[in-house]
Amino acid sequence: MTDPAPYRNGLVTLDREVVLDSLTVQGRLPSWLEGTLIRNGPARFEGGERGYNHWFDGLAMLHAFTLAGGKVGYRNRFLRSNSFTEAEANGRISRSEFATDPCFPLFGRIMATFQPPVTDNANINVVKLAEGFAALTETPLPILFDPETLETLGVTDFQDDLKGAITTAHPHRDPETGALYSYLTEFSLTSTYHLYRLAAGSRTRERVASMQVERPAYMHSFAMTEQHLVLAEFPLVVNPVRLLTSGDPFIRNYRWDPERGTRFQLFDRKGQGHLGTWVGPPLFAFHHINAFVDREGAVVLDLAGYEDARIIDFLYLESLRRGDPDFPRPTTWRIRLHPDGETVERQVLSEQNVELPRVNESKVGRPYRYVWGTANRVPGHFTDELVKIDVTTGEAVSWYEEGCFPGEPVFVPTPEDDPSVGAGSRSRGGSVEGSPSAEGESWSSSARGEGAEDDGVLLSVVLDARASTSFLLVLNAATLEEEARATVPHALPLGFHGQFYGG
Ligand SMILES: [Fe+2]
Repeated sequence: MTDPAPYRNGLVTLDREVVLDSLTVQGRLPSWLEGTLIRNGPARFEGGERGYNHWFDGLAMLHAFTLAGGKVGYRNRFLRSNSFTEAEANGRISRSEFATDPCFPLFGRIMATFQPPVTDNANINVVKLAEGFAALTETPLPILFDPETLETLGVTDFQDDLKGAITTAHPHRDPETGALYSYLTEFSLTSTYHLYRLAAGSRTRERVASMQVERPAYMHSFAMTEQHLVLAEFPLVVNPVRLLTSGDPFIRNYRWDPERGTRFQLFDRKGQGHLGTWVGPPLFAFHHINAFVDREGAVVLDLAGYEDARIIDFLYLESLRRGDPDFPRPTTWRIRLHPDGETVERQVLSEQNVELPRVNESKVGRPYRYVWGTANRVPGHFTDELVKIDVTTGEAVSWYEEGCFPGEPVFVPTPEDDPSVGAGSRSRGGSVEGSPSAEGESWSSSARGEGAEDDGVLLSVVLDARASTSFLLVLNAATLEEEARATVPHALPLGFHGQFYGG
């Protein structure tokens, strides 16, 4: 019988921390590709005798693939968060994670009611802040690390008084100014979303807008256009009192309430506050793909969506390791918030499903053409292919190899000054991106530069379940043809997100 979960060895604890100077490379790496891919994800799935419940709970490990001089080095280290060090010291799970709570002795349970030990297990993403590189999760406790050694440097804080218990590990960076945008949810009897801007080089978050809310939604990411921030309040919502008093793990306090529909909350990026609420059909998503304002003035939001929030249940480790042919596939949706201030239009952008989506960073918030991501081909086989979708036509190309399970593909653009890339090689479209343009010109600017949008490579860490190894896969981002792979001689746990830092 076919194994329903052949990716299972990507969900096993990896305790080894190694430094490998030179991985075996097959194929040819582009000569311009120099820098480090830093990836984050769970790598220890137990605390003492007890297992964590959910894929999102595992203790964070950083992985660095360094590309230089045609060689690929690899190293990995656990993040020494309080969640990690306390679990090691106590020999048991010690902090409340996404879907796992510590088992307290009676006294500890009473104390925990008043002061729950919040997780700082920053296992989702990485970002470059003013103070340095930081690992991120959905509690606002970024943990700094050394990008070369991956050594943990400690929790950093901001120099401001913005408050909130929950955030997103998916801040957006403005491609022109380098400012980061994100949001916080402050829980109270009446809770508040705070949207903020963090200027490049700054440690002070500036409030862009705040909005009070009775039942905050679980939102793993949000959307940004050149003018707006958009919170898509999926109808997975929580009563904040329950969150404080139930004693249940974080996500188990949220309820699916489809009658609410999905409430799209539009905010002005320049300080004009909340611009309106559009109510659309109930849906759920972890990941927005991109957003922009179209020629009619509508706000367009593309996302990897689901009909409901059951996907969270399928990602419990027990379920994932067992495998399930009914594992939900996302739908690639385009949502259009009509300028009439009310109408929500939804269309399927492509028959190709996509998750862990990435776009060319220069296109964030703007009209764009391509999204890359993982996808599911064989029912139940989780993420078993990489895809590129042309969102203007819905057409897709893919990379697939039986027994291989790729992670999020990170797009790295070919440098404009690369001497090895002549004009002929740029025939896919060629020209340099349009310079920052006025609002009315942004569409034509994009159209002019569309050929260059996919000029680069994709980097994805792939689990080879047959060999029980993992490899860094380098694909031509335009065609998804393989350029090279560099193999780590053991399997790496399936991770979440990463970034490439050139040079
Ligand atoms: Fe994510």
